[in-house]
Amino acid sequence: MCGIVGYIGTKAATSVLLKGLKRLEYRGYDSSGIALLNSHLFVCKKKGKIASLENELIDLKTDLSGYTVGIAHTRWATHGEPSDLNAHPHVSSSGKIAVVHNGIIENFPLLREKLISKGYSIKTQTDSEIIAHLIDYYVCKYEDFLTGVFVALEKLEGTYGIAVLSEDYPDRIIAARNGSPLILGVGEGEILIASDASAIVEYTRRVVYIDEREVVDIQRDSYQTYDLLQKRVDKCVEDIDWDIETIGKKGYDHFMLKEIYEQAESIQNTCRGRLLHETGTSRLDGLNLKNEDFTRIERIILIACGTSWHSALIGEYLIEEYARIPVDVEYASEFRYKNPILTPSDLVIVISQSGETADTLAALREAKQKGVHVLGVTNIVGSTIARESDGGVYSHAGPEIGVASTKAFTSQVMVMIMITIMFARKYDMSLETGQLLVEKIEKLPNLIQSMLDTAHDIKKIALIYSNASNFLYLGRGVQFPVALEGALKLKEISYIHAEGYPAAEMKHGPIALIDENLPVIFIALKDSIYGKIISNMQEVRARGGKIIAIATEGDDLIRDYADHVIYVPQVDRMLSPLLTVVPLQLLSYYIAVERGCNVDQPRNLAKSVTVE
Ligand code: M6R
Repeated sequence: MCGIVGYIGTKAATSVLLKGLKRLEYRGYDSSGIALLNSHLFVCKKKGKIASLENELIDLKTDLSGYTVGIAHTRWATHGEPSDLNAHPHVSSSGKIAVVHNGIIENFPLLREKLISKGYSIKTQTDSEIIAHLIDYYVCKYEDFLTGVFVALEKLEGTYGIAVLSEDYPDRIIAARNGSPLILGVGEGEILIASDASAIVEYTRRVVYIDEREVVDIQRDSYQTYDLLQKRVDKCVEDIDWDIETIGKKGYDHFMLKEIYEQAESIQNTCRGRLLHETGTSRLDGLNLKNEDFTRIERIILIACGTSWHSALIGEYLIEEYARIPVDVEYASEFRYKNPILTPSDLVIVISQSGETADTLAALREAKQKGVHVLGVTNIVGSTIARESDGGVYSHAGPEIGVASTKAFTSQVMVMIMITIMFARKYDMSLETGQLLVEKIEKLPNLIQSMLDTAHDIKKIALIYSNASNFLYLGRGVQFPVALEGALKLKEISYIHAEGYPAAEMKHGPIALIDENLPVIFIALKDSIYGKIISNMQEVRARGGKIIAIATEGDDLIRDYADHVIYVPQVDRMLSPLLTVVPLQLLSYYIAVERGCNVDQPRNLAKSVTVE
């Protein structure tokens, strides 16, 4: 999705802003632009990659080294096609105000008509352009930059994260947030504003999280935060606990591959300090649940989107089986509009890697509005979901740059496992079982590493099937969501159509797809339904389908039914998704690379979906 970066300080703003934009590339975008300010505004915008913007800046042969103030943007089109014109920053008709905007202004048609009647000429198809004219209008009217911005914001309906420059106030950037995140970086003699910490962290790890409906007036060596009623708000400076090294590729060809390989370690980070041997349980203090809450809770509702929704489905299987609490799993986008039936004995848990997904955030707010205790599972410290939940767990997977989620998913699943054990131990899981599980979890990183060590074999399979047009992923029980996740990964980065299904459900429809051109991936571990899944494999075999089986180490029989077998170590069912998903991630990765796809930034996708 769109990204914002702004800089005011002593360095040449152009290079800081371009570097910042590159750090935001992973969020997904289709055009970019920059506005620089000294006594005059300089604006340059370009469709396509940031490299096109850089080339344009070089071609212009303008000396930009004297500009020490500026704002920049990566756009992910919502209103109007990706083009140079529609790219941000947008400049008011007077040429004095430049704005970058994340979010959607819902009442822009009405505002556009009003602005046209006041003599403003609208040049783009975007909703964002009107913000520049509106601010221009009120800055002129009130003869004050900050007041003009405040009054303009009153007129906007929708969501925004904005950063604004005014030619008449050359040493300032004003930024505001309503539904689209902003973070302020406080450096030595310089201040940055961005939609994402990764654009800032190279310069400073000292940050201020701008909250909903706040405005920040940034000057060269100071800043002041306000609420929308123009009341001053004093904010704490916090430290980010990761650095620029963490978001490098570290020698891997792609971020996605690096992140897949980080999983043995990221899982450990998720569990660190949270597993209790003696009592055979987990300790998740951030949930803020008291003993009486555990007796009160009769149903858990897990809410998420995309990959996070798959980890919620795994959570459902685990919590119901081990803790015996009924669980419902909801797509956030559906939950928010269905006037959900909630009672005081419900517990809602929203799951989001970014902690900024608009639908998930709206679902959280809807649940809170209905008086239910809402917990958040997020990867990003200080994210909106983390801040608005009544309690929660950070998944501590570390920054995930690849758009296709991998390590964040396994860390979410690990959190689901720890939540399951915690609830199960409060009810009827024995101390012995709890202790055994804790021991097994501690051995998991080695097992994940052993899966990663099979990458070479998985690559060979990927090369055989990289030209397929369709894939089917089948699994049963807790492996069904893993099948869904495997299919989503393949779709996202290779653009091959893939479907995930419960294996037994195949005969009720998808079986019609099976022929010799259809690779079918079965997750067929040796468990209580192994025999059933072997029958499903035979049904595929009989129709000529090609079978790739993810099977339990030592299962030689399965070779009779599958064209290829990828073995995973024997592990407790509760922990098995963390192993079975790894070969599926690798398979998608190698297929996408073989097809020449942009693995880290797949077309049309955004890392954090902050619009509806
Ligand atoms: O940040 P979130 O976990 O809330 O994001 C939810 C989905 O947008 C996300 O999982 C998406 O499906 C990814 N591209 C999956 O790889």
